[in-house]
Amino acid sequence: MEKPEAPRLNPRTDLYLELTALVSGIMLVAFVWLHAFLVATVIPGAPVFDGMARFLDRYSLGQIGITLLLLAGLTHILAAARRIPTGYREQRSLWRVAGRMRHTDSYAWAFQVVTGLFILVLAATHIWVVVADWPLEAVKSAWRVQTDYLGFYLVLLLISEFHGGVGLYRQSVKWLRFRRRPLALAVGAVVAFILAVNLAAIWALLRLGGVS
Ligand code: HEM
Repeated sequence: MEKPEAPRLNPRTDLYLELTALVSGIMLVAFVWLHAFLVATVIPGAPVFDGMARFLDRYSLGQIGITLLLLAGLTHILAAARRIPTGYREQRSLWRVAGRMRHTDSYAWAFQVVTGLFILVLAATHIWVVVADWPLEAVKSAWRVQTDYLGFYLVLLLISEFHGGVGLYRQSVKWLRFRRRPLALAVGAVVAFILAVNLAAIWALLRLGGVS
C-alpha cells in the first residue's frame, strides 16, 4: 500500500501549528455563530438591527471585531496550509489512500481544504463589500440581499457552516476522544440550528420594505 508522505516538520513545530490552527479555527467558528445572531436582529425589525449597529459603532466593536477576525483568519490559513498537498505525487497518494481505505476522515479533510479556499475568496469579497458601505444599516443590507447577493450568501452560508461543523467534529474526535456517532449528531444539530437562524435572517432581509 502506498503511504502518504511523512510530514517534513519536526514533531514539536507540527504540534504548535496544529494547536494554532485549532485555536484560530475555534475563534472563527465562534465569530460566524455570533454573526448569525447579530444579523438576526433584523428579524424583529430594522430599528433593532440599526440599534445593534449603532451600539457596535459606539464602542468601535465592529472595527475591533473585523481586525481580530482578519488576524484569526490569516493565522488559521497559515497554520492549516502546511498540510495541503501541493505536489502532484502527494495529491495522488492522498486520494489513493482515501479511496482504498474508504476513509471518511480523509475525504472530510480534503473537503475542508476545498471549502476553506472558497470561504477565503467569498468571505473576503463579502467583508470588502460591507466595510466599503459602512456604517451598517438594515436597508443597505436588505438592498444587497434583494438585488445581487442572495445566491452569493446562500453559498457562503452553506460552505462556511459545513466547514466549521466538519472542523469541530474532526478536532473533537482527535483531542477529546468523543464517540463519533453521538458527536456527529450533536454537531449536526447545532449546525442545523445556526443555519435556521441565518436563513430566518436572510428571509427577514428579503421581506424588508423601504428598499429603493
Ligand atoms: C467582520 C466581518 C463581517 C461583517 C461586518 C459582516 C456583516 C454582515 C452583514 C451586515 C450582513 C447582512 C447582509 C449585508 O449587509 O450584505 C451579513 C450577511 C452575511 N454574512 Fe457577514 N459579515 C462579516 C463576516 C462574515 C464572514 C467571515 C462570513 C462567513 C464566513 C459571513 C457570512 C455571511 C452570510 C452567509 C450572510 C448572509 C446572511 C446571514 O446568513 O445571516 N460574514 N454579514
